[in-house]
Amino acid sequence: MQTTSRLAKKVEFGDFQTPIGLARAVVAQVAASGFRPASIVEPSCGIGNMLVAAANGFPEFLRAVGVEVQPAYAEALAERLSGRGDRERIRAFRANFFEHDWAGSLGQLPEPVLVIGNPPWVTNAELSTSGSGNLPQKSNFQRHAGIDAITGKSNFDISEAMLLHLARALAGRNAMLAMLCKTNVARKLLMHLWQAGTPVQEPALYRIDSAAAFNAAVDACLLLCRFGGTTADLTAPVFAALGVSRPAERIGFRDGRLLANAEMHDRWRHLEGEEVYRWRSGIKHDCTDVAELSGSFGAWRTGDGVAVDIEPDLLFPMLKASDLGSRRVPVPRRWMLVTQRMVGEDTSKIATAAPRTWAYLQANAERLDRRASVIYKNRPRFSMFGVGDYSFAPWKVGIAGLYKKIDFKVIGPHEGKPVVLDDTCYFVPCETQAEAELVASLLNSEPAREFYSAFAFWDAKRPITVELLRRLDLRKLATELGYVDKFALLNSVKGSPGDKANTGLLWRE
Ligand SMILES: C[S@@+](CC[C@H](N)C(=O)[O-])C[C@H]1O[C@@H](n2cnc3c(N)ncnc32)[C@H](O)[C@@H]1O
Repeated sequence: MQTTSRLAKKVEFGDFQTPIGLARAVVAQVAASGFRPASIVEPSCGIGNMLVAAANGFPEFLRAVGVEVQPAYAEALAERLSGRGDRERIRAFRANFFEHDWAGSLGQLPEPVLVIGNPPWVTNAELSTSGSGNLPQKSNFQRHAGIDAITGKSNFDISEAMLLHLARALAGRNAMLAMLCKTNVARKLLMHLWQAGTPVQEPALYRIDSAAAFNAAVDACLLLCRFGGTTADLTAPVFAALGVSRPAERIGFRDGRLLANAEMHDRWRHLEGEEVYRWRSGIKHDCTDVAELSGSFGAWRTGDGVAVDIEPDLLFPMLKASDLGSRRVPVPRRWMLVTQRMVGEDTSKIATAAPRTWAYLQANAERLDRRASVIYKNRPRFSMFGVGDYSFAPWKVGIAGLYKKIDFKVIGPHEGKPVVLDDTCYFVPCETQAEAELVASLLNSEPAREFYSAFAFWDAKRPITVELLRRLDLRKLATELGYVDKFALLNSVKGSPGDKANTGLLWRE
């Protein structure tokens, strides 16, 4: 019981105390930047590892302050500080971050001010399920322009709200923010500051090994952000680790968008334009047990190995993200029972067109009816999504949405049938092998890979999205690569363009 409540508390307060070695490395990184604080502040300081490391690293400091919400930590810190020679220059007390007057208390401190720490690693969604009160007061935050963009979302990190609040209090001061946080949170904070025009000098991200330091599987970094002065350019170097001197890449902000790689964006931004090929998602069915079968043509089996005797008409060889990601030439290992040719199509006609398939669906109706997603409500029974003529195009160029690299695959028919993709993949439909190979060679070219890498954050859950794929104008890319003639030839042999055609080509000369 006690263990459970201790764990709940750990979740509620995002409680991962920074190992002292990492705290010292963070302080060393601040020192390497040339910053020498007169004041040191650690909000949500826990037992004060960062506060103590900073006080030791910058012994000439005038004032240091630690604030922590959990009484046991605040007491442990007071105890820890008691024997120090600099004790009278350090103030540590218990307070809730969201009730503390940060603008007022930071305003009184001598500059330069270093705000250092490691705010809680927890999202409001994780907190609301535990009924926690450890949330920013919406009314307080909403007074500030722009916060809605962050906290109005269904899920945000508590640390994001904290960092934003601190950044507002530090804007225009001779101050530095040095925070360990999720990389995603660091990027969002910078984006907000850039968007708001808050002057920041040479912000930088240093990736840390959060598995080693906190036993947490999350991309995290040290964010260094100096306030005051003027913003030189809207980019920030990302270093692979603390202590590294050459950045792996520079994130940036252009045209209201956050970029994963500003240099690649600036090199290839002229390739952005119209969607020349219509990008599609694969088919969504939410019922792998029933809709996916293994085996070969005519000898299909369920996942449990039970033979399934149904007509081949509605069965198609299929590929999912793991198939597209793993092999150079992906080979289907399963078949998908696709109940419709288009979204909303009447499924009852399967009863006469393919009676054994209908019997199989009826036998498994309970499992299909249990699908929770609202998209299946008030739709024909056994409905699927993301299905249309394009799903059955004989050739496709596909990519896995969940994978962390740009790698487009040519997909052709298998055992005499078009291969379908599931909803972990995106694709453009093509009519012929030549068309698919040309499109794939364009998409896999260096300029295209670099163009997409300018926008794709590889630590995101789904780095590749249909919005991202649509941004690259294949016609401009063909011109860049000198493929214009081949592309025009393809264009001349097409039938009418549009959504219904087997080809995804939208453009006509
Ligand atoms: C990730 S731990 C880091 C602790 C310390 N900063 C360090 O680096 O070792 C986050 C700390 O934030 C504290 N905390 C969580 N919510 C807080 C709040 N609303 N106000 C103040 N402290 C809070 C937790 O109790 C915990 O000690």
